[in-house]
Amino acid sequence: MAAPPVHTLNDSHPLPAFGFGTYPMDDAEAERAVADALAAGYRLIDTAVNYRNEAGVGRGIAASGVPREDIVVTTKLPGRHHGYEETLASFEESRARLGLDRVDLYLIHWPNPRIDKYVDSWRAMIKLRDDGLVRSIGVSNFTPEHIRRLEKATGVLPAVNQIELHPLLPQDDARAFHARNGIVTESWSPLGRGSALLRDEGVARIAAAHGVSSAQVILRWHVQLGAVPLPKSGDPGRRRANADVFGFALDPGEMAALADRSPRRLGGDPERHEEF
Ligand code: A2P
Repeated sequence: MAAPPVHTLNDSHPLPAFGFGTYPMDDAEAERAVADALAAGYRLIDTAVNYRNEAGVGRGIAASGVPREDIVVTTKLPGRHHGYEETLASFEESRARLGLDRVDLYLIHWPNPRIDKYVDSWRAMIKLRDDGLVRSIGVSNFTPEHIRRLEKATGVLPAVNQIELHPLLPQDDARAFHARNGIVTESWSPLGRGSALLRDEGVARIAAAHGVSSAQVILRWHVQLGAVPLPKSGDPGRRRANADVFGFALDPGEMAALADRSPRRLGGDPERHEEF
């Protein structure tokens, strides 16, 4: 697989246009899968405290032999650690589990608006960035209103917002807000959790026209939207095929047809979801 193109974040650091998701792998599976994904050419690896596999991800990175500076490692702050001091302490625990000096991209996993501490966490993330322990900072599952609040309180916009995004939930408004504000959109569950989308006849017809799989069509859709998909696969063959989406292009009619369906959220609603 050729190295994917790279986005430049609003803090001028690079982010590969395609990444590898590790939920819900345990430590042992994550270790094997991350080492293999890196061997296959992935350079963006996504984990979180709440995936409970940071140690495995760290071991996979070490085992891969890929130079550390070529890899963008992402982890995420859990809801139970929101707050300024709590965030600094949680970060140290993540760093120790990953076995890394620095995390490349650190995200607030969910806003948890009911406990209302994400602004305090954001101030701690800014300090971690300023201290050089984190290269880029961002959020996940934040609405435009949550992001505006961070900016108003601190003057610092996230580099990334990782949201649920797939053809069942194209997130036009969020993506437009991100684009206006120089925030890169990352897509979690980019394949719609391996759902009905992969068996959809319309998707299959587009795939057949290009001689690729339905999964490749969906992942290419993300890339052409300018979003960074983070597909998870436990299967080495599917991992390689999933990343091989830079040799064909969908036309505007195909792009529109893929998302032309009633929107359906598969995960939590950011305004209400409680994630600890
Ligand atoms: P598996 O790990 O057995 O490959 P999402 O990233 O949207 O959450 O989707 C992940 C799900 O999609 C997993 O169940 C994964 O299963 C499956 N999956 C990943 N890649 C493919 C593929 N190329 N074809 C079919 N299913 C896939």
